[in-house]
Amino acid sequence: MKTNVTSHQDDAARVVAREIAGLIRAHDAAGRGTVLGLATGQTPIGVYAELVRMHRAEGLDFANVVTFNLDEYVGLGAGHPASFRRFMDERFFEHVNVPSGSIHVLDGDLAAVDVPASCADYEAAIAAAGGIDLQLLGIGRNGHVAFNEPGTGRDSRTRLVELAPGTRADAARFFEGQGATPHHAITMGIATVLAARRLRVLAFGAHKSSIVRRALVDPVGPDVPATFLREHRDVTFCLDEAAAGELPQETH
Ligand code: PGA
Repeated sequence: MKTNVTSHQDDAARVVAREIAGLIRAHDAAGRGTVLGLATGQTPIGVYAELVRMHRAEGLDFANVVTFNLDEYVGLGAGHPASFRRFMDERFFEHVNVPSGSIHVLDGDLAAVDVPASCADYEAAIAAAGGIDLQLLGIGRNGHVAFNEPGTGRDSRTRLVELAPGTRADAARFFEGQGATPHHAITMGIATVLAARRLRVLAFGAHKSSIVRRALVDPVGPDVPATFLREHRDVTFCLDEAAAGELPQETH
């Protein structure tokens, strides 16, 4: 496990974007594609901005990139302003050349009866693509990873979940109040995430410092699902100084 603390979140975003670009270019040179696991939320916005910049300014080519997003709200429809599909389109997909057939997002608009098969298909599509080369991740203030809320086990896979009250409260600003915030989501599981070959976990700001400390210091287990990430053989926690502010000195 590595921690990389930068003075500003833009620096962390650039480092991660450059790593992704390096991976894409190395794979292209070797004649193979690159499979990226993507995250939504405020945290990865700078990474997408930098990747878009590199596409425009440096010709970074996404033609051989396949993407899988971590999660989606249930019941919104892809066009809803707060849907993660819409977020991804606006922040990233509309500005780069990932082929539309290579973009995978979970469908939050299915009849309940169709959800398990759709989740199984998603897992199968990840496997068929050769597994995820690099997974971007944020951490929720309650320690969730994707929408794997506290209490989630390490063996969890892609499935329907109920959102924790704190998660809904944090999301309420993107809806017309907490009453309009979805109660459910579909999310990759912890085991799905841990199967990626590299994990790059981003957390920025003082409001994340307490959960970052718990993620890196608390015993590994379902109380703080982000603790499971520490057991991955190639994980880097990319933090700004504010998010790292409560870490014991030796973890810096
Ligand atoms: P944020 O969300 O990037 O908007 O802080 C992170 C998360 O809940 O995983």
